[in-house]
Amino acid sequence: MKNKLEKAILTHNLDEETIIELLSTGIYDDLLFKAADFVRKQYKDDIVHIRGLIEFSNICKQNCKYCGIRRDCKNIDRYRLDKEQILSAAHQAVLKGIKTVVLQSGEDAYFTTDKMAEIISALKNLDLAVTLSIGEKSTEEYRALKEAGADRYLLRIETTDRTLYEKMHPNMSIDNRLRCLRDLKKLGYETGTGCLVGLPGQSPESLARDILFFKELDADMVGLGPFIPAPETPLAGEKGGSLELALKVMALTRLLLPDINIPATTAMEALHPQGRTLALNCGANVVMPNISGCNYSNKYALYPGKSRLTVSPVQTIDYAEKIIQNAGRKTGTTKGFRNE
Ligand code: 5AD
Repeated sequence: MKNKLEKAILTHNLDEETIIELLSTGIYDDLLFKAADFVRKQYKDDIVHIRGLIEFSNICKQNCKYCGIRRDCKNIDRYRLDKEQILSAAHQAVLKGIKTVVLQSGEDAYFTTDKMAEIISALKNLDLAVTLSIGEKSTEEYRALKEAGADRYLLRIETTDRTLYEKMHPNMSIDNRLRCLRDLKKLGYETGTGCLVGLPGQSPESLARDILFFKELDADMVGLGPFIPAPETPLAGEKGGSLELALKVMALTRLLLPDINIPATTAMEALHPQGRTLALNCGANVVMPNISGCNYSNKYALYPGKSRLTVSPVQTIDYAEKIIQNAGRKTGTTKGFRNE
């Protein structure tokens, strides 16, 4: 295995069988994490990019079985931020030196393409790189949002396992999800995808195929996190995914896609107080502090423990900078595109 990992550091290839083996046992974890950290340093140096995450609506028409803001969750406070609130959050981030914002929401029909286009162009006037994470859209909608100035798009495949995908996503189709991802690449977005790790019924074989899918798509960003059972969802009583397995999927992704952007996700921190620091040592080079503002950052509850604190944009950015510093790394000063 040591030889195989040393070779992968140079070739950025691993066969499916080896990936499955690495996912199925803990004995090579140290070697794997060291290899991922080495590749991260080689391609991304010690720079960590901060993206300001604005969760602007938790209203969603979809009913994904794992998700704490799925349509059928009746006992959560639903909210929308208006354009002024979004711009105010972005403005505070700009004053802190942030160069990229991520607009994330449920699939909320209120935010039409025209409304989004207006928000995007206002953000572009602040000279920000704009990432969207607003779900499945038509080709034409993706095109219009790109023309409005959006630079990047995040849409996790969640799982490439067709049967599991269909079980987890009522009335959705994996073919449409794949169409969305291919559209985004074709339209010139920096395209992010990723998966949930530890879904009920997910095997190491299926996770290995997820990782190979990221490479096949040539994803520019990959976001991963452990599945965390959320209350009031059909999966509330299930066992969650482990941080260790999520870190391994991340490390393997870094090995195979050496130059992409990989965030240390909040789901990792929900499972371990130093989750994001651990992630930065296993291949991650991005952190995404929530800058939605005090009244909202605790309402976008995809899973429990997502945000223990209700804090201001300035505080979450300061905290992200502290994590970067404590990990012995440096905060990026650019927009942090893949090829920078
Ligand atoms: N546990 C972990 N991650 C979750 N997400 C949604 N629900 C959960 C959960 N219960 C993730 C999905 C989605 C991203 C925004 O949040 O992968 O793409």
